[in-house]
Formats: sequence, structure tokens, C-alpha cells
Amino acid sequence: MAIRKINNKMEKSEVLLTDPILQPHIPETHWYSPKTFWMMLGIYPTVFIKPNTGLRGSGIIRVQRLKSKMFEVRFDDKVKKVPQSDLITEVTQLIEPDMQYFVQEGINLATVYNGRPFDIRIIMHKPENRWNLCGWVAKVAGPNQFVTNYAKGGKAFALEKVLKDAGFKNIEKILQTLGKIAHRTSHVLDKSFSDLRILGIDAALDKKGKVWFIEANTRPGYNLFRDLGDQVMFHRIITTHHYIHAKYKEVVAASTSQVTAFNLEK
Ligand SMILES: Nc1ncnc2c1ncn2[C@@H]1O[C@H](COP(=O)(O)OP(=O)(O)OP(=O)(O)O)[C@@H](O)[C@H]1O
Ligand SMILES: [Mg+2]
Repeated sequence: MAIRKINNKMEKSEVLLTDPILQPHIPETHWYSPKTFWMMLGIYPTVFIKPNTGLRGSGIIRVQRLKSKMFEVRFDDKVKKVPQSDLITEVTQLIEPDMQYFVQEGINLATVYNGRPFDIRIIMHKPENRWNLCGWVAKVAGPNQFVTNYAKGGKAFALEKVLKDAGFKNIEKILQTLGKIAHRTSHVLDKSFSDLRILGIDAALDKKGKVWFIEANTRPGYNLFRDLGDQVMFHRIITTHHYIHAKYKEVVAASTSQVTAFNLEK
């Protein structure tokens, strides 16, 4: 038996969309084309254009509708105001021609600590026959960033504290929904893709407190959890990770990126 790695975000998204419980929590997503882009901008005030193979927060474009046919385009830490007539040219310049992209409904991420957006990483492990929620952490975006990735300066904070500091009142209910979504996501992916044992699920809250699914990484790193300083949670994650890799060990030999699992945060 091996441990599965799935890079294709659309493939995972399509599987999850078949589940009626998860479906309302997944942002609308289509393969990118100028046509789907305009269609999505007609529906949502913000859309994201993302490479189908994730690059740890790189290559993502955020387009936001402003007034009088003007748009704000964000890419990395750069912000530009662009008139509608130039928008496709602008976006085309930022897209790598040999990569596949999709266009996605933008979530109005909840913010904390001087308006920095945050989302949530949840580690799910399946050492035997059941998925366990091993840990969760809030990822708070670095200065001038609209993505929360560790590689883009995202910082780890205790989830309960961030929810409180962000002003949410119904924290127990939010945690319950996050747990439910993480378990359901693991279960649904597990049914479609064999040999899944480890998942790093990214969920988010919008400003109204609705829980959204962003993505599921099949090879998550643990730097955020090391930085968090919750020794009990970190120990549980690392111990279970090692247990899984020892038990299903063919993959350890096959995987050259095994060592980097701890160095590279996905
Ligand atoms: N639809 C969205 N609305 C709001 N924010 C988003 C959306 N999609 C992504 N983001 C932000 O961008 C971050 C990166 O997006 P995502 O995880 O999809 O790509 P990636 O991290 O580059 O991929 P990978 O983790 O596979 O390397 C998310 O953690 C989140 O902070
Ligand atoms: Mg990611």
C-alpha cells in the first residue's frame, strides 16, 4: 500500500462537489478562459485565477470590481488599477502560457490584527481505518499579502484566539463546522482516491462567519504547527505522521520529497 499524492486541484474539487454536504461550502470554480472570467466577474465582486497545480501561494491573481468599469488586479504584493478595456491583456500577461488555470469565486476572508486576512489549516491523519483531526491552526497573511501561505509570509496563530480576536461570537459553532467539513472532505476524497492517509485541509471563514473549503493538500508541511508552539498538538502530528510513514513504508522509499515535508509548507 502507498500514500497518495494528488496535485490536480480541479480533480479534487470535482469529487468534493458531488457531496451535498460539502457543496455549499465550495467556491464556484471553472477552468479559466476569458469567457468564464467575465462570466464570474458578472456574478462575484472578487474572483481568483489560480494555477491548477498549486505553487504555495505563487501565481495567484485576484481581480476585484471597483466603480466605473475599473478593476483592481493583485498579483504577489503588487496592486494595479486597470480599466475594463485592458483587463484581459493585463491578466494574460500574468498567466504562464504552459500552465492550466481556473477561475474561482473570491471569498471575502475574515481579517484580524490590522486587517490581515486569515484562513485555517487542518491536519487530518488516517493511521488505521479512521480519519483523526490531529491539529488546526490559523494562518494569518503577511503584510500586503492576500494569500496566507507560509511561503508568502503567513504566520501561525492559535485558532481559538484568532477567532476571538477577529470578533466572532459563535466560536464553538465555527469549530464544530470546521471539524465536520474536515472529516467529510477526508471521507469523500478517501472514497475516490485510494491510499490517502494524510491531508492538510485549508478552510476559510468569510467576514460573516460562513465556513468555506479552499483546498486539500495531500502532502502538507508542518512548519506552521512547529511555529505555533503548542507542543502537545505538534507532538501528536509528528508522531502520527511517522507512524503512518513507517506503517505504509513503500512510499517513504519512493518519495524524494519526504524530508522536505517538514521544511516546505504547502
Ligand atoms: N477563492 C478564494 N478566495 C479567497 N482567498 C483565496 C481563494 N483561493 C485561495 N485563497 C487564498 O490563497 C491561498 C492559496 O490558495 P491555494 O491554497 O488554493 O493555492 P496554493 O497554496 O498556491 O496551492 P498549494 O497549497 O497546492 O501550493 C489560500 O490559502 C487563501 O489564503
Ligand atoms: Mg494552499
